[in-house]
Amino acid sequence: MRSLPRLRWAALALLVTGCALAARESTPVASPGRTSRAIAEARGDVRVSPDGKRTAVRYAGWTTRDFGAFRSYAYDDVRPEPPVQKAVMPVGVVGDPKKGRALFLDRQKGPCSGCHLVPGDDVWPAGSVGPDLSTLADRTLPDAYLYQQLWDPRVTFPVTVMPPWGAQGVFTPEEIVHLVAYLQTLHGPPPPEKDADRNPFTRRKPTGFGDNLDPTNNPAVVRAEEAQALWSARGPKGKACADCHAGLPQTAMRGVATRYPRVVAEYGRVMSLEDFLSVHAAATTGRALPSESAANLDVTLLVKMASNGLPVAVDTTSPAARAAIERGRASFYRRVGERNHACADCHTPDHGANKFLGGRFLGDVTGGLTRHSPTWRTSQNDVWDMRKRMQWCMTPLGANMLAADAVEYAELELYLTTFDVGKPINAPGIRH
Ligand code: HEC
Ligand code: HEC
Ligand code: HEC
Repeated sequence: MRSLPRLRWAALALLVTGCALAARESTPVASPGRTSRAIAEARGDVRVSPDGKRTAVRYAGWTTRDFGAFRSYAYDDVRPEPPVQKAVMPVGVVGDPKKGRALFLDRQKGPCSGCHLVPGDDVWPAGSVGPDLSTLADRTLPDAYLYQQLWDPRVTFPVTVMPPWGAQGVFTPEEIVHLVAYLQTLHGPPPPEKDADRNPFTRRKPTGFGDNLDPTNNPAVVRAEEAQALWSARGPKGKACADCHAGLPQTAMRGVATRYPRVVAEYGRVMSLEDFLSVHAAATTGRALPSESAANLDVTLLVKMASNGLPVAVDTTSPAARAAIERGRASFYRRVGERNHACADCHTPDHGANKFLGGRFLGDVTGGLTRHSPTWRTSQNDVWDMRKRMQWCMTPLGANMLAADAVEYAELELYLTTFDVGKPINAPGIRH
């Protein structure tokens, strides 16, 4: 629902950021009709410079490449999934197995080794989402078959998680010929394995990070404790959270997080706690809590922790919730981006879940991925919520992210949360 005041707010925001940026060299283009209360780097904006170059605005260290040519999660992006392409191997190109092997391991491209094991001590870390290719050449598959398989495997495997590398332009025809030449050298028997961890089929599974509620073990707990000060600090409107919600957050907010994400009638959409706080804090205290700001995450944690131990109880039965969950489910299975991937490719047991993608063990949506969020990430030294994960999962796979507070993500998050219903909230978690 797009009410008039929200549109006006958006126009104002565009004007403000627009001026600041356009004065330099480029203009941001936001998706029409969208409003976001996220910090600038979390809004999914794309800027166009006068010479037409498009640059994506993202978190520090993330790629700035614009993936606008590929499908996204936006509900108003009605482009279909790229059609299945047949391909014929070009004649006159001689495949070079050495070049092919380098391409197979190239982290800027696939890497193929993210899903497939092949021999070599330098193959690290290989994944197990796809079959072990160590002895593929023994199957004496024709070059033409392998070429097609790499160009677009959907010709043989209609629901495969392997990207259509040629059809989407990730690899050129010549590069695919080199890859085929390399694959045709993979004769058995494979050399004896020196390191059980090199092989994703024998690698040890990750064991976790200890007690996630122990503040000496989880820095996110300390951050949430610090947010306690925000709870009783008066904002520009002269009100503090504590003025309207009597008592400490631990009691005032007990049970609240179990119901989120939910359809918030006042705003006409599904909201997570983060989404709700970003509008509610500004409306009541005058203090902005933009999505993906440290303050928003900290207060979210504070509210979420007040429900620790209580079972997740999101609304799954009202007509509005059911319709939203259905849209979220569709997003979960929607293939997007240059790699034409869906969340389901990596997080359902039929596909990647409980296997290794490169060195990372993939979470299983049916076991629940939400009740420990926001989570401390040891590899990032920071707290991440669900939305940043969603943005992060798809960006390296070639899809433009939406604003962190986009309704598409909110409904996807609601769908994910349905798998956690009845299980106790346990936030903040600790993950890699
Ligand atoms: C996201 C995971 C993923 C990535 C990345 C990936 N593959 Fe695959 N690949 C698979 C899966 C899964 C299969 C098994 C087919 C199926 O059931 O979908 C497969 C099958 C294959 C096959 C065997 C086909 C057959 O008929 O047995 C070959 C060869 C192959 N992949 C090569 C590659 C190469 C080369 C790359 C890099 C350009 C690559 N794969 C990248 C997942 C992946
Ligand atoms: C001026 C009074 C006022 C202030 C200040 C205020 N709130 Fe609220 N808050 C309310 C009212 C009234 C509701 C219930 C109506 C609604 O859901 O919008 C509510 C609802 C909520 C909810 C949702 C509860 C649920 O069951 O879904 C949360 C979470 C919340 N507030 C947190 C905060 C936090 C955190 C702050 C400080 C940043 C804050 N509030 C400041 C009045 C206030
Ligand atoms: C190509 C594989 C891939 C795809 C596609 C993918 N993810 Fe992930 N995802 C990962 C990896 C790798 C991790 C880190 C390991 C883990 O926790 O599963 C991860 C982690 C997560 C986590 C954190 C799990 C936890 O326990 O804290 C969530 C939630 C998540 N992904 C959701 C999604 C959603 C939603 C989508 C679709 C928008 C998606 N992912 C698409 C690979 C993928």
